Amino acid sequence: MEIIKWSKDLESGIAAFDEEHKFLVKTINNIYNLLRGGKRDEAKKLLMEKVVSYADKHFKHEGEVMERYGYPEEELEKHKKIHGFFVRHVVNTLAPQIEKGEDKEFREALNFIIGWLVMHIKNMDVKGYGKWFKEQRIEVHDKMAEI
Ligand SMILES: [Fe+2]
Ligand SMILES: [Fe+2]
Repeated sequence: MEIIKWSKDLESGIAAFDEEHKFLVKTINNIYNLLRGGKRDEAKKLLMEKVVSYADKHFKHEGEVMERYGYPEEELEKHKKIHGFFVRHVVNTLAPQIEKGEDKEFREALNFIIGWLVMHIKNMDVKGYGKWFKEQRIEVHDKMAEI
């Protein structure tokens, strides 16, 4: 079962970032299925080792590309700040909650991550830098960050 379905409105137009977003979506779907199958430890491991660490790499990549092409300073700072809030929230609040809690807490944390990610991609990535890069007619030929 797919808890997040990839859709057109998640496409930023920058291939590397779309691939990175797709990897995050696919991994979250895998985690959800592991949890449903009672494989809690595996699900936990995948969340911390793949989603959290890869999200961090992806955020750095976005920040670096936005800087490279002169994305407006104020927007860039806002975007980076929001990435930072998310990583800190997951590491400091959600991870301990998952560690101590039951499946319910795990599912709640996962729901937060899913909701945040989808909203962020749609509102800040696609409508933010995605739109800007298109307007500026800038093509980014980066490869996706290594997994
Ligand atoms: Fe992103
Ligand atoms: Fe972002």
